[in-house]
Amino acid sequence: MAQIIDGKAVSAQIKDELKQKVAAMKAEGTQVTLAVIQVGNDPASSVYVGNKKKACEYIGIRSLAYELPEETSQEELLDLIAELNGRKDVNGILVQLPLPGHIDEDMVIGAIHPKKDVDGFHPQSVGALCIGQPGFVSCTPAGIIQLLKRSGIEITGKECVVIGRSNIVGKPMALLLLRENGTVTVAHSRTRDLKEVTKRADILVVAVGKPKMVTREYVKEGAVVIDVGIHRMEGKKLCGDVDYDSVAPVCSAITPVPGGVGPMTIAMLMNNCVESVALQAK
Ligand code: GUN
Repeated sequence: MAQIIDGKAVSAQIKDELKQKVAAMKAEGTQVTLAVIQVGNDPASSVYVGNKKKACEYIGIRSLAYELPEETSQEELLDLIAELNGRKDVNGILVQLPLPGHIDEDMVIGAIHPKKDVDGFHPQSVGALCIGQPGFVSCTPAGIIQLLKRSGIEITGKECVVIGRSNIVGKPMALLLLRENGTVTVAHSRTRDLKEVTKRADILVVAVGKPKMVTREYVKEGAVVIDVGIHRMEGKKLCGDVDYDSVAPVCSAITPVPGGVGPMTIAMLMNNCVESVALQAK
């Protein structure tokens, strides 16, 4: 039977470690502060932002919430970011995505000071990851590395296949697996013979955004399968990009949905907030 990789437990462990760190920092007079900006009131974004605030509260990070109306102009948003960039009492700045259509997301991401870019989306953060320099790493792929390490799964020398090439998950995931000495292949919607490629994987990371797309025909016996997708099915049940019931019997370890990768994203965001203090002190 496959090992079920418990993201809820691992994220709780990380949050508890951070809570202790933050308490120690507080005792020395250092307060960690995250500014969270949401433009408009997309219901899914509101849930994510609410969860981020809750995690801050639990750990002892001060959170500043900026809930801006849908019709906020790009200039107003950029002005707010500039103000937060300049504030010594703000360590991290997070702009919840997606933004309304009249705002250029790349411009907004690029406006956040790289030392406050706790999402790890700024081109400088991505570039630093690429050449092995210090900087913030996108939270979901960073969380997956923690899940693997804390579940005792070795990455060095393993065949790693990532399906998906997004800037937020696929590309940084590939770079992180490479940094951990994996042999990395990135597959995507134009990959020929996808099943042949994914069947090479000792570690298969699936971030395609299609419910239950990956079935057992894509998976080598004994592989570790990491499912980044989350979808609400009719009847409200959640599922991932991986057909869990089909894949679980053939793999050695698998992340469930919910309770796998999802909880790790916020834990790593909190970790980046705590780390931002040391980065800013340099
Ligand atoms: N929207 C969906 N996921 C994320 C995330 O990790 N960060 C931000 N800023 N927005 C998101």
